[in-house]
Amino acid sequence: MRTIFWDDGIWLLDQTKLPEREEMLKCKKVEELVDAIKKLAIRGAPALEAAGAYGVALACFERDFKNPEEMKNYIKARAEIIANARPTAVNLAVGVQRVLEKALNGRSVEEIRKIALEEAEKIASEDIERNRKIGKHGAKLLNDGDGVLTYCNTGRLATVDWGTALGIIRSAIEEGKKIKVFACETRPLNQGSRLTCYELMKDGIEVTLITDSAAGIVMRKGMVNKVIVGADRIVRDGVFNKIGTYSVAIIANYHKIPFYVAAPKSTFDLKKSSEEVVIEERGREELIYCGNKLLAPRDVKVYNPAFDFTPLSLVSAIVTEEGILFPPYKIFDQKA
Ligand code: MRU
Repeated sequence: MRTIFWDDGIWLLDQTKLPEREEMLKCKKVEELVDAIKKLAIRGAPALEAAGAYGVALACFERDFKNPEEMKNYIKARAEIIANARPTAVNLAVGVQRVLEKALNGRSVEEIRKIALEEAEKIASEDIERNRKIGKHGAKLLNDGDGVLTYCNTGRLATVDWGTALGIIRSAIEEGKKIKVFACETRPLNQGSRLTCYELMKDGIEVTLITDSAAGIVMRKGMVNKVIVGADRIVRDGVFNKIGTYSVAIIANYHKIPFYVAAPKSTFDLKKSSEEVVIEERGREELIYCGNKLLAPRDVKVYNPAFDFTPLSLVSAIVTEEGILFPPYKIFDQKA
């Protein structure tokens, strides 16, 4: 099943409800979509690309317009709001921009609507195709019997379907390799335990849940011999991904275990270096509560960055839909 699709509005699988309930959420207004993005009902860089794309289409259908000019001004303003809903994953803005640019060529209200929706549908289908390609390329890095540690959620739920890092694992298994997956729980929002374990188990893929702090012991004991993660933005000097990825990369490097990154080319933002990227900081309640249970003194000082940065020197290879990049990463030397 697709994580996000269009049917008289945007439908998405509400990931805040998983793994307890599979519940679809329908967005008929841009505000509803922005709220869904902010609370992570839809999340993961490639899924956000599709959400951004459908979001611009949604703005086109949100109300009546007197003429195309009025409509274009309206959708430009809505596009900015959607693109800024979360700052770190570049894909959100990429999806928004792609649909907006196309739609602005429309000559009538109806034509703009048609162009926007067609482009959004195209982006969503392309995501599935490119994930299959990432899977096929990346599967070459995995051998029968590997123990693979993964972080956060990079599967069907983080994309329109199939996944990036988890897509590689799926493709390797499809080729007949036996892979044991170790999923870090990924505090504080537990995308690993709630989402990765849920979707792998649904597919009958062997997965073992570990705490984030157990990443070291599974590598030291030889239970894991490869790490694959996704990315939210790949810049000139490295990779932004879910908070905790950097620590995993350091532990993997210490143990001489390959640390692979899987992402579509739309995640690359080579005009920027790490200092120029905004790392989303999220609310204190994510750390001090588990449901209604208080986990820390209510007024404790909290720092809750949602992402961190891993320098290229710690990355053994980057898998995209076009193939596998190995160090030295020549494309990263190109000047913007
Ligand atoms: O905050 P999230 O859940 O949107 O963070 C997601 C990640 O960090 C993923 O690893 C990344 O987007 C790649 S998903 C294929």
